[in-house]
This record gives sequence, structure tokens and C-alpha cells, in this order.
Amino acid sequence: MSLRPGAPRPRRLRQNPAVRRLVAQTRLHPADLVLPMFVKEGLAEPAAIGSMPGVVQHTMDSLVVAATEAVEAGVGGLMLFGVPDKRDEIGSGATDPDGILNVALRRLRSKLGNDTVLIGDLCLDEFTSHGHCGVLAADGSVDNDATLRRYDEMALAQAEAGAHMIGMSGMMDGQVGSARVALDEAGHLDTMILAYAAKYASAAFGPFREAVDSALQGDRATYQQDPANATESLREVLLDLAEGADIVMVKPALPYLDIIARVAPEVDVPLAAYQVSGELAMIEAAAANGWIDRDRMIRETLTSIRRAGAQIIATYYATQIARTLR
Ligand code: PBG
Repeated sequence: MSLRPGAPRPRRLRQNPAVRRLVAQTRLHPADLVLPMFVKEGLAEPAAIGSMPGVVQHTMDSLVVAATEAVEAGVGGLMLFGVPDKRDEIGSGATDPDGILNVALRRLRSKLGNDTVLIGDLCLDEFTSHGHCGVLAADGSVDNDATLRRYDEMALAQAEAGAHMIGMSGMMDGQVGSARVALDEAGHLDTMILAYAAKYASAAFGPFREAVDSALQGDRATYQQDPANATESLREVLLDLAEGADIVMVKPALPYLDIIARVAPEVDVPLAAYQVSGELAMIEAAAANGWIDRDRMIRETLTSIRRAGAQIIATYYATQIARTLR
């Protein structure tokens, strides 16, 4: 049979690339992308990360080069992770002005000024000998309030090193409010806070642990969220907003598109999402086997994250994709 005259034909709007471009509701733009980067202390050459094909641990020099390239490609921000030489119980390297992350922030800020938004990862896991995101109590549990005091010190160290924004990824209760007060009292009124508001205890962080040479035994289930839960994300986000978060984030992204879509209408600040290491690893592994079209998959996942409601996306593909969008 044929459709009757006047019948709706949705395919009319899909007939060629020009029409599809005109009616597309979701677009990727370089300025919405944030590039996470790793810098390792005492490294002579950039080191490949086996479980994250295409991503490296940078030396200080290669970091500056890659950061400059990202900015030239129009990427909106850089998020920095430090991998220290030595670790201890309280993560001293995180607050030492000469610690790798603070040195790298200082170096990038002096090179790039305000050409980009420089974000420091604010968490202790890369710096602690036990690999947890906080300091431990005598019984081995992660001590929330003792950790807040370390985070406050870390916030000040990063602000002084030149971070425009601190990315609070530790999932301690009250961390945003505590750091906000510490920053304000020290006069760092302009230092922004990106709150990893809804962060799930995810298997998708696996490759990242290799990227930062993590010492973690066990898991983070007492502080990161249970993947089974949705409404507590709303609670976490609303608490972070009340505590003064400037931007809130959902992480990981792809397995949590429903959370992004649920949170988006509830927030009056920019919403970000993080396409994490395991999301990259899945794409790369499948592509390496010839099972999917890598570039299309990258675009499709990033588009779906935007479509779900995230305005800003942290992705290891930021520079690469930004270049294709120009
Ligand atoms: C904590 C932190 C982690 C990631 C970003 N910040 C690791 C964790 O929570 O275990 C993961 C990012 C990724 O997997 O790409 N410093």
C-alpha cells in the first residue's frame, strides 16, 4: 500500500545532510569539552597507559605542549591529575606547594594565563599510600571530617598554585561547603568549585587506577554512590548547590544518562558529565577489534551525553574531537 496524500512523513526531515544539519537539536562544540590530563613526577618521557589507548602520563614538558594544543583546538577547560613519586597515609604531596599537581598547575597557569579554565582534581587518592580518597580512622574506615580538613588545605594549595577551579571528586559529605568557606576566608573568592556531585562507585574507573598508579585495595563503596540508586543523586546535587557549588557533575556518563536527564531540570547552574576511563577503554577495545566505527562511536556517545542534558563534558577525546569540529 501507499500512504494517503497528506500523511505525515517524518523521513522528509532526514532526506539529506543539509536538512539533517538544519534540524539537529544537539551539537558538540569544542568550548563545552574539558580535557582530563595526567602528569607524573620524575618521568623522563611520556608513558602510555595500557588500558587507555591514546592517553598518556605526561612529563611536565609534554603536559605543557598537550595543554597548549588543547587550547589551540578550542577546548574549554583542562582538568589536571597528578601522579606523585611518594605516597603516605595523609597524602602530603597533595598539599605540598612542591607536590606534582601544584607544580603543574603553577606551570600551566603561567603559560596559559586565562586562555583556558584550569581545573585541579581535588582528592587524596593519588597521594595516599592506601589509595583511598580520604584519610583513614584508626579502624581503617575513611574518616569524613578529618578528610575535610585535608581537602580545605588542598583547595588553598591549588588556588595558590593558579587553579581557576577545583574539581571536588572525593565524595565526602560537606566537602563543597567546607572548601568554599576555606577559600573565601583566605581571599580566594573567585576560585570556582566543580562538584562531582553524583559520583557512582563504578567499574568504569578501572583504567584510571592504572593511569594514576593507584595503590587502592578494596573499593570506594562507603563514599561513592551505589549504582542501584537514582534519587540520592538528586539529594547529593541539591546539597552541593546549597553548599555553594558553581558547577555540578554526574560521573560516569554513559551508564548514567538517566541520572543526567533527571538532574538537569533541577539545577540552576551548569551541569557537567564525565566520560570516564572505562568508557574510553570500551570504545577503544571494540574499535581495535574492528567491531565498531571508533570515530562515530565517540561522537555518538558525546552527543548522547549532551542530549541527556549535560552542558559540559569531560572527555579524554576533547582535543581530538575539537579539531574535527573546527
Ligand atoms: C578521584 C577520581 C577518580 C576519577 C576521577 N577522579 C577515580 C576514582 O574515583 O576512583 C576517575 C576518572 C576516570 O575513570 O576517568 N581522584
